[in-house]
Amino acid sequence: MARYAQTCPIIYGVGTIGVLGEEVKKLGCTKVMVVSDANVSQLKIYAKGKQSLLDAGLKIIEFTKVIPDPTDSIINEGGEIARAEKIDGIVAIGGGSPMDAAKGINVLVNNPGQVNQYFGNPFYTPGVPVIMVVTTAGTGSESTSIGVITDTVNNVKNSVLVNATLGILDPEATLDVPPEMTAATGMDAFAHAAEAITAKVPNPKSEALSVEAIKKVVANLPLAMDDGTNIKARGDLLVASNFAGIAFNDALVHLGHAIAHSAGAKFHVTHGVFCALALPEVMKYAATVDGEKVKIVGEAMGISFSGRESAKEIGTMVAEAIRDFLKKINIKSVKALGISRNDFIAITPMIFQDACYNFVPREVTKEEVEAILGAIYDNYQ
Ligand SMILES: [Fe+2]
Repeated sequence: MARYAQTCPIIYGVGTIGVLGEEVKKLGCTKVMVVSDANVSQLKIYAKGKQSLLDAGLKIIEFTKVIPDPTDSIINEGGEIARAEKIDGIVAIGGGSPMDAAKGINVLVNNPGQVNQYFGNPFYTPGVPVIMVVTTAGTGSESTSIGVITDTVNNVKNSVLVNATLGILDPEATLDVPPEMTAATGMDAFAHAAEAITAKVPNPKSEALSVEAIKKVVANLPLAMDDGTNIKARGDLLVASNFAGIAFNDALVHLGHAIAHSAGAKFHVTHGVFCALALPEVMKYAATVDGEKVKIVGEAMGISFSGRESAKEIGTMVAEAIRDFLKKINIKSVKALGISRNDFIAITPMIFQDACYNFVPREVTKEEVEAILGAIYDNYQ
């Protein structure tokens, strides 16, 4: 049985940051917390968003302390301010980290205590409207029901269950993203799509959106890295990220994200980089479950198959094509990130603890995971 849903409405287009204030007002908000980070809050797009809110007559409280992979302590601090200031709306301006932080803060607005007690718990008093202005094309957090938060008590990634109320996808908001971050975030979106296609319980909507997302990433990521001001490529990547977000919100991501979360918590490297590095071997693994699904990933990348390939061959072909693409967009190998092979394989137990492991299409043994991690290390230099 497949089941799929629709999440929050999206406003898409160049210059749509200009309607932010009016849209927030339409949602009944009068005093909003603007959640962002030190980098984005210095950008023109942040100033534009703030101005739009002020022009609409809204009162604002700024919370720009969010760090990459936001921690529970930062969310708790934001939550306390939100409660004390009696805000009635939250506007995130940023990439995955500010968006996820906004979700975490929203859990605390109308509930006591710390965010940690709400990890994985959908039973809390609902918060306030959350509006997301997306500045990186990767997480698709505007269209997913979870906010990923670093749990510093257990040193793992954990999550809150929250939907955004409205997303604004303005390609101009992503123009300042440097090439390296453009590559990492784009590959996060690619991984969401590829894992959604090969999910434990796939569904037709997720598959259609994922295929389109992969096509757009493959066609546009190199263009946006060569010329960051290419507004068409930036727009297509934002749409790809959003489509992949909608797709994996239903079909869910699996082994690749269990690996990426574990490696990210241990080695503190950008999430999308580990998603990218894990993906070739994860596609080989997925081909042992259903080669035809991995073929769909390959076809979206532009590979033509004769129809006579075995599932194993399909897995190998898709893995190779992904590795070639990673080279093209300058993704560093695990070794080049300064991680030893032994340290990398030592994350194995963490992978089984990660929430995404629950959604793997086929259970794997400890030895299999160790072999997959070894292959990630050895097969991409
Ligand atoms: Fe991701």
